[in-house]
Amino acid sequence: FNVPKAKNEPVLSYAPGTTEREELKAQVKAFREVEVDIPMYIGGEEVRTGDKKSIHPPHDIKHCLGYYHQGDETHVYQAIDAALKAKPQWEALSWEHRASIFLKAADLLAGPYRQKINAATMLGQSKNAFQAEIDAACEFADFLRFNVQYMTEIYADQPESAPGIWDRVEYRPLEGFVFALTPFNFTSIAGNLPSAPALMGNTVVWKPSKTAVYSANIIMQLFKEAGLPDGVINLVYASGPVAAKVIFEHPEFTGIHFTGSTGVFQSMWKTIGENIHKYKTYPRIVGETGGKDYIFAHKSCDAQAVATAIVRGGFEYQGQKCSAASRIYVPESRWEEIKGYMAPQLAEIKTGTPEDFTNFVNAVIDEDSFDKLSKAIDDAKASKEAEVIFGGDYDKSVGYFIQPTIIQTTNPKYVTMEEELFGPVVTLYVYKDAELDATLDILDSTSMYALTGAIFSQDRYAAEMLTKRLTHTAGNFYINDKPTGAVVGQQPFGGSRGSGTNDKAGSAINLMRWVSPRTIKETF
Ligand code: ALA
Repeated sequence: FNVPKAKNEPVLSYAPGTTEREELKAQVKAFREVEVDIPMYIGGEEVRTGDKKSIHPPHDIKHCLGYYHQGDETHVYQAIDAALKAKPQWEALSWEHRASIFLKAADLLAGPYRQKINAATMLGQSKNAFQAEIDAACEFADFLRFNVQYMTEIYADQPESAPGIWDRVEYRPLEGFVFALTPFNFTSIAGNLPSAPALMGNTVVWKPSKTAVYSANIIMQLFKEAGLPDGVINLVYASGPVAAKVIFEHPEFTGIHFTGSTGVFQSMWKTIGENIHKYKTYPRIVGETGGKDYIFAHKSCDAQAVATAIVRGGFEYQGQKCSAASRIYVPESRWEEIKGYMAPQLAEIKTGTPEDFTNFVNAVIDEDSFDKLSKAIDDAKASKEAEVIFGGDYDKSVGYFIQPTIIQTTNPKYVTMEEELFGPVVTLYVYKDAELDATLDILDSTSMYALTGAIFSQDRYAAEMLTKRLTHTAGNFYINDKPTGAVVGQQPFGGSRGSGTNDKAGSAINLMRWVSPRTIKETF
């Protein structure tokens, strides 16, 4: 299998005066000046229903970026039919030709699409330029390139044969169509969820988050320009319940590739269970869901490193990364020092529009999120068990802005130590050094999630003990680093418990879920 060896796309700096910064600014300006009219894409056709919904930057809600056309049941059926119609030809196409389309898409992302996808992510999802670059351009290109490499590694995995026999495994695509349901918080994940099953020979019905339509449209244009045949990925905008009803009752439904909330995943799983007798084959259920990701500092920690991890891990992309640090445990003996290192970093954070490149924190995704976060802050202000020690302001007059906020609690099971908030609100508990053991038990049992976690320790024996004690608390575990920023090809990503099926995005494990191997024994 001769494919180009996958390499991570180098991340550009966007420092003042760089060409990339000027290009990105120009692209943002160009997008702002035109109201775009976004269709669905079914069987290669652009479908406009006339049921138009407007799109607004979360940081500038009075500005209209354009409209998308909302579909209904009919369009979901049409998308399924288009996927099934395209399937025989697509699965018969040799792997090299499938791979070539996605490798071209990666090159387009690194080249002419780079600023389009970054600007769309900045405007549509309120992500700053650097965060957009590592997500939308680089991580997305990485997913596409590494998946091609992992695909060939899967195909190369073949059994031994006895004399006179030729045993082989054929990695067939699944029978039916795959449903991809994608989140707003990473454009790369929105691109990966439909493209990974498609790479393995499946055809897909794709429903993006309604808060990330602007970049979803660019992703679809990218796939088209890369030469993806009509009907391989069909993009529909329909309400969740409408899409779910049609898809989960369809006999050809063969798998779901999902990133989103735990509640939605569990309810879909139930519906799939109720309909199980209707399907031709047992569907693959692959999901990455919630998180309540932690930082645990040991008394031997490097206090400065912990402070930086809290600020970066908690507030990058407004804490809306599924991996964001949101509950922090620090030992009493080191707390003042950690706080001392945090203070100047926190004071430096600027909150505002991502279109001003100096703002580190931008708006949260929508009003529901804003309301939930502002309520959590108000509750903490009123609680006897909690105190807002940094931030605590919010304002939705221009956009959904929540100031980066740190809540300190005296109760390690305080509600925001347990429940996911998905925003720039971090809760911190100072534990007594003598209560290390009990605190670890509390950490392990407080939250239903197990996505990411980070420990900080300079003592090798303590690091070993913490790593073992916290085995099931995180699918991505960091020693002396923040719990965000997993890189494709370096740290395969995913969690267990309430955080998902842990089928590691950007890995052979994930791609294996999109094939149904046939073992062939041929006797000579
Ligand atoms: N790659 C993303 C992170 O780890 C999900 O933050």
